[in-house]
Amino acid sequence: MDRSFHFRRRLAAQLLGVALAGIGAVAAQGCGSDVEPGGQGGQGGQGGQGGQGGSGGAGLGPGGGGSGIFETVTECFAWPEQGSGGAGGGGGSGGAGGAGGAGGSMVPPCPPKEEALTHVTPDNPLGYCSSVVNTDGVFQDGQCCYEVTYETCGAVGRPFLVEGRARAATRASGRSNWMESALPAPDLAGLSPDERAQLAVAWTHDGLLEHASIASFGRFALELLAVGAPADLVARAHEAALDEVRHARLAFALASAYAGEPVGPGAFPFAGGAVDVSADLAEIAARAVREGCVGETLASLLAAEQAARATDPAVREALLAIAEDEARHAELAWRAVAWALRSGDTSVARAVRAAFVEAFAAGVTLEVRAGGAGALEAHGRPEAAVLRSSLERALDEVVRPAAMALFDGLTAPAGKGREHAERG
Ligand SMILES: [Fe+2]
Ligand SMILES: [Fe+2]
Repeated sequence: MDRSFHFRRRLAAQLLGVALAGIGAVAAQGCGSDVEPGGQGGQGGQGGQGGQGGSGGAGLGPGGGGSGIFETVTECFAWPEQGSGGAGGGGGSGGAGGAGGAGGSMVPPCPPKEEALTHVTPDNPLGYCSSVVNTDGVFQDGQCCYEVTYETCGAVGRPFLVEGRARAATRASGRSNWMESALPAPDLAGLSPDERAQLAVAWTHDGLLEHASIASFGRFALELLAVGAPADLVARAHEAALDEVRHARLAFALASAYAGEPVGPGAFPFAGGAVDVSADLAEIAARAVREGCVGETLASLLAAEQAARATDPAVREALLAIAEDEARHAELAWRAVAWALRSGDTSVARAVRAAFVEAFAAGVTLEVRAGGAGALEAHGRPEAAVLRSSLERALDEVVRPAAMALFDGLTAPAGKGREHAERG
C-alpha cells in the first residue's frame, strides 16, 4: 500500500516549484545577449512531467557504489574450527604462517585471506554491499584474525563524500551525550530480544548517517561561502546542520533504548584531520545534486514512509520530524543548484545534468537489513521491499520531474548549440 502518497505529492509540487522558479529567474535575469530563450515554449515545465519516461534507465551501470561507507574492522574466528580437524588449514598458504605460535600444538595455519570471510559471521550495524580482506590471518589466543574492510551501500540521506566515497563514524558504546532527551522512550513491551537487537542495529545505522550529514552540511556551508553564494543559502545550510544534529540524537536515543545501553557516534573520520573545501561551482553543484536533490529528497520520503507505518508513538514522532526537516533540506539543495545554474557558465549545467543522469541510471540501491512486518514495522523498520519501492516512486515522481523542469528551462550561450535542453 502506498502510504506516503500525500507526502510525496506535496514534496513533488514543492520541489517542482523551486525548480521552475529557479529557471524563471534565469529567464528574467537574461544574462545579456549571449542567452537565448529556452525552446519548446520556454518554461514548459509541466510538459516535463508528462514525458516522465524520458531518460529512463539510460543504461549506464550503477555508479560504482558511490554512496558506500567504508569501515575497516578486525574479524576473528576460533581456530581450528570445531569438527574440521586438520582439513581446513591444509591448503597452502605457508606464508600465513607468520602466526608461528601454533607450532607445538599442531594447529594448522590460518586459512588464506581469500577464504577468511567464509568463516566469519559479521556483526556490523550497517548493511554491506562488498567486503575485502586486507591482511593474512594472524593466530592468537585460539583465533585467526584478519583486517577486513566492509562497504555499505544505500546510504540514504546526505552523505559526507570524500572522493566519491561516503564516510561515517563508527558506533561508540556507553556514549550517552548524543541521545535526544526530549523524545519519549519507545514501548519495548512485546519485543523479542532478537527484535530489539535488530532495531538497535538499524537505528544505530541511521544515527551514524545523520551524524555524517552534520559534516556534510558543515562543508556545504563553507563551500557556499567559497563561491559567493547569497546569505539566505548560507544561513539555511547552517540551520540544516543543526537539524542533522537533532536527527542523530533522535536516532541514537531510539538505538540506545532498544540496545539497553547508551549508543552514540565515535569521532568523525576526517582524513588526516583535513576537510577538502571546493571553490569550483560546477563541482559543488554536482555534489549538491547527489547529496541533496537526490539523497535528501529520498531521505525525506523514506522517513515519511517509515512514519506512515510506525505505530509506536516515540518512533513515529521522530520520523515525522525527520521527514519534514529532510524535505526542507531537499528544497535547499534544489535552491542551491538553481542558483548555481543561474550564476555559472555551461560547465555548471553540464556537471549538474551529468549528476542527475548518473543518479537516475544508478536508481535506488538501498540495502535494508533490519526490517519486517509486525513489530519491526511498528518501530519504524518496514520490510526492505516496501522501502525500496517507495524510494523508486520518489525518484520517478519527485526527483525526475523537478530535474526535467530544471533542464527544460535551461538556456545555452548563443552559437554553442542547445546542449542543455536534453532531459536527464
Ligand atoms: Fe537528517
Ligand atoms: Fe538532511
